[in-house]
Amino acid sequence: MQYPDEHSRSRALFERAQQYLPGGNTRTTVYMKPYPIYAARGEGCRVWDVDGVARIDCINNFTSQIHGYAHPAILSAILEQAAAGTAFGLPTSSEIDLAQLICERIDSIETLRFMNSGTEAVMMALKAARAYTGRPKIAKVEGAYHGSYDYSEVSLDPTPANWGDRQPASVAYAAGTPHGVTNDVIVLPFNDPEAARTMIEAHGPELAGVLVDPMPNRAGLVPATNEYMTALRSACNKTGALLIMDEIIVFRLGMHGAQPDWGVRADLTTLGKIIGGGFPVGAVGGRRDVMEVFNPTRGKPALPHGGTFSANPMTMRAGLAAMELLNSPTFERLDHMGDIVRQGIRAALKRHDVAGTVVGRGSLLKVHFTPRAVQDYRSAFPTADEARRLALFNRGLLNRGILAAGYGLMALSTPMTDADIAEIVHAADQSIADVAAAMD
Ligand SMILES: Cc1ncc(COP(=O)(O)O)c(C=O)c1O
Repeated sequence: MQYPDEHSRSRALFERAQQYLPGGNTRTTVYMKPYPIYAARGEGCRVWDVDGVARIDCINNFTSQIHGYAHPAILSAILEQAAAGTAFGLPTSSEIDLAQLICERIDSIETLRFMNSGTEAVMMALKAARAYTGRPKIAKVEGAYHGSYDYSEVSLDPTPANWGDRQPASVAYAAGTPHGVTNDVIVLPFNDPEAARTMIEAHGPELAGVLVDPMPNRAGLVPATNEYMTALRSACNKTGALLIMDEIIVFRLGMHGAQPDWGVRADLTTLGKIIGGGFPVGAVGGRRDVMEVFNPTRGKPALPHGGTFSANPMTMRAGLAAMELLNSPTFERLDHMGDIVRQGIRAALKRHDVAGTVVGRGSLLKVHFTPRAVQDYRSAFPTADEARRLALFNRGLLNRGILAAGYGLMALSTPMTDADIAEIVHAADQSIADVAAAMD
C-alpha cells in the first residue's frame, strides 16, 4: 500500500481522532500530512501499521528504542514487574539498580535522580543550576531541542528574519512565552568557540548554567568540535556557571555516553530515551555537591522534587534490562552499521549527482540536501527547495518500507541485521533517485 491512501485504516483513525484530540494529535512531532500512519505493533526492528504494512523503523520512537520492539529480556523484566505492581508510593530497589549502573558508566555522574521525561530532566537540571548558584540566567545553543520547558525552548526554530547577528537573539518558541523567559536565556551560536566564550563571560555573574547537546539533532545533527566544547567548559570554570550536558539522545553513542568522545566533564548531565527501556523516563545526575540541592534528609531541600511516577519500577526494570544489553561489542556493531548507512547514502548522492551531505555519528544520521558545508543551525537551515527534497526523500523511504523522522533523523537499533542495513541503503539510493528525477 502506497502512502497516502484515502481508503487506509490510518486515514479512518485520523478522522476519528480529530473529534477528540486537537488536530487529531497528541504529539506535534508525530503529525504527518495528510494523515499520520498509525502503528499496530512492533517486533525486532520492524513496525507494522494498522493496514498491515511492515517497515524497518529508523525513528525508534525518536531514538528511545535502541533494542527495537519486544526484546525478550526487556519483555520478561516488565512482565515480571507488572505482576508485582507497576507503581507504589514507596521507593523500590529497582531505582538503586539503575542509578548504580548509570553512575558506574558515566564518570561525571556521582549521584542521580529520575524523572518521567527528558523535558522534565532538562527542567530539573536548569532549576538545580539556579538553586545551586543562586543565579537566574541560563545559556543554550541556537536551534537545539531540549524538550518543552519554556526556558530550554528559546530559539529552537528562529529564522533569518529574527535570528540576529553572530551573537544570536533570544527568540520565543511558543506563543505567550513571558518576556522574563527570553530575558533570562542567552542563546549561543553553535561551533563558534570565540563568540560563545564572549557571551558566557559577558553574562557570567548572572549565569547559572550552560546547556549543551554535543550533537544537537534539530540544529543539524552536526557534532560539536572539541574546541567548542572545551571553550564552553573553560568559560563555565571562569564564571562559575555549571556545564549541563544534554545526553538524552547522545547517550546512545557509547558505553560511557558522549563526554569521553568530546573530552569534557559536565557538572550535570541529563538523560532520557534509552535508559527507560521503552518506557517514559528522564534523569539528572552529576556532581554530588550540586545534586545535594535535591537532598531531603536535612529538612526542605533547596530544590524539592517529586513526581507520582518518578522512578516507577516498570521503567526502572525495563531500563536496567535495556542498559545491561548494551556493551562494547553492541556499540561497535551500531557504529559499524551507522558507517555503512552514512557511506551508502554519500555514494548514492554522488551516483545520482544530488547535492547533499550526511552527518551524524554512531547509530545516528541525517541527510541535508544542500551544497553548503553544514556546521550549525544556520548553515543547516534549509531553503524551500532543500526542504522539498528532504520531504521527497522521506516519502520515498516510507513507500519503500523505511521509517525516518520527518525532519530527517535516522536512528539504528541493535536487532538490525546486515540484510536490514542493506535494505535501508537500497531504499535510500532509490529515494535519492526520486529526488534527482524531480530536479530535472
Ligand atoms: C536532546 C533532547 N533533550 C530533551 C528531549 C526531551 O525529551 P522528552 O521527549 O522525553 O521530553 C529530547 C526529545 O527528543 C531531546 O532530543
